Amino acid sequence: MLRGCFELIGDKSISHRAVMFSSISKGHNKISNFLMGEDCLSTISCFRKMGVDIQIDGKNVYVKGNGLYGLKRPEDILDVGNSGTTIRLMMGILAGNKFDATLIGDDSIAKRPMKRVTDPLKLMGCNIEGNDDSNYTPIKIYGGNLNAIDYHMPVASAQVKSALILASLYANDTSFIHEKIKSRNHTEIMLKSFGADINIENLKISVKPVNELFSQDIYVPGDISSAAFIIVSTLITKDSEVIIKNVGLNETRTGIIDVVKNMNGNIEIINERLVGGELVGDLLVRYTPNLCATTIDKDIIPRLIDEIPVIAVLATQAEGTTIIKDAQELKVKESNRIKAMVDNLKILGANIEELEDGMIIKGKAKLNGGKINTFKDHRIAMAFSTLNLMSDEKIKLDNEDCINVSFPGYFDLIKSLTK
Ligand code: S3P
Repeated sequence: MLRGCFELIGDKSISHRAVMFSSISKGHNKISNFLMGEDCLSTISCFRKMGVDIQIDGKNVYVKGNGLYGLKRPEDILDVGNSGTTIRLMMGILAGNKFDATLIGDDSIAKRPMKRVTDPLKLMGCNIEGNDDSNYTPIKIYGGNLNAIDYHMPVASAQVKSALILASLYANDTSFIHEKIKSRNHTEIMLKSFGADINIENLKISVKPVNELFSQDIYVPGDISSAAFIIVSTLITKDSEVIIKNVGLNETRTGIIDVVKNMNGNIEIINERLVGGELVGDLLVRYTPNLCATTIDKDIIPRLIDEIPVIAVLATQAEGTTIIKDAQELKVKESNRIKAMVDNLKILGANIEELEDGMIIKGKAKLNGGKINTFKDHRIAMAFSTLNLMSDEKIKLDNEDCINVSFPGYFDLIKSLTK
């Protein structure tokens, strides 16, 4: 069983943004509780290559910002590793800076679509080259002289939205970005604290160009997407009870809590507080023997997009039929997460059917052991690891190292909570 109380590691989305916005601000920035995962370290490495002085000290990062127009042309290619957030948000910044830069990443990044960002950036007047009509890496951006944009985003994506907000800081007039469904809003919250002129009216975001952003001290709340694996492990493992401290509870990210509650899961939010414009709290989670099925569709998807793999695991342990639909975005994440979940859960004996845009899972299933193909995807690896404590048979991952992308120290934490 899992028992104990622990302080959650920093949020990946917020850590990326903190480094990026600090780098293009004027002055000294301190980022505390930074996530030292490989993805965020890729962001640091890219901005260092553009002349930004970034020092790491324990969980703190010190960034001496170069100012909005102060980044230097990188002499090297910018390698984003496995990080979609790094490449997509950085494209927005590069589009506004008067130099050329080339972006690459790992094998997973090479398969992920970039047109969703390069198309609107081209509409703003940016010159971009890349494979298959600028859809795939390597991508080369020739930045500078951007026009404002009035753009209705065809996909619900915080990465696309953020890239466009960042490019709009450099445009010649006010830009308008329209979302279909509200996605995570860390960019809007944090950029405002740096002095950006951003106005939000429901799904319409207006961004005025500015001359400068001003340095900030940023505290990074814990990552609810990482907490999700501990939440699910606790819910499905007999006699477990865990307190997760310092969880970011921004409502654009808390879909997992709503779903767990709908499934009858025993979860409570305690000690809610506001830190740096972001809501934070602690979660008390308890083993729940009588979980029930649920349906997850359109409107909630962006609020739990990264948690769907582990929710699929949870659904195998819930009574009834869980339906996950409108989640076609899962196919273009670090791996095709629909296929990865369906194929691997079938290996373990789950009753699961693949859909074009999701999956149908019938519970409650007694799962066997087996070897999981993680596709080197951190969230697939951790989703399956949650079964190890409750299952009699061993679930082996073909790759554990990929977990370092977002949750360094994951297995040590599980060990320390296992009683
Ligand atoms: C992220 C947004 C989401 C999410 C990703 C991080 C971000 O992607 O899946 O892990 O930090 O903006 P999309 O916005 O492309 O869905």
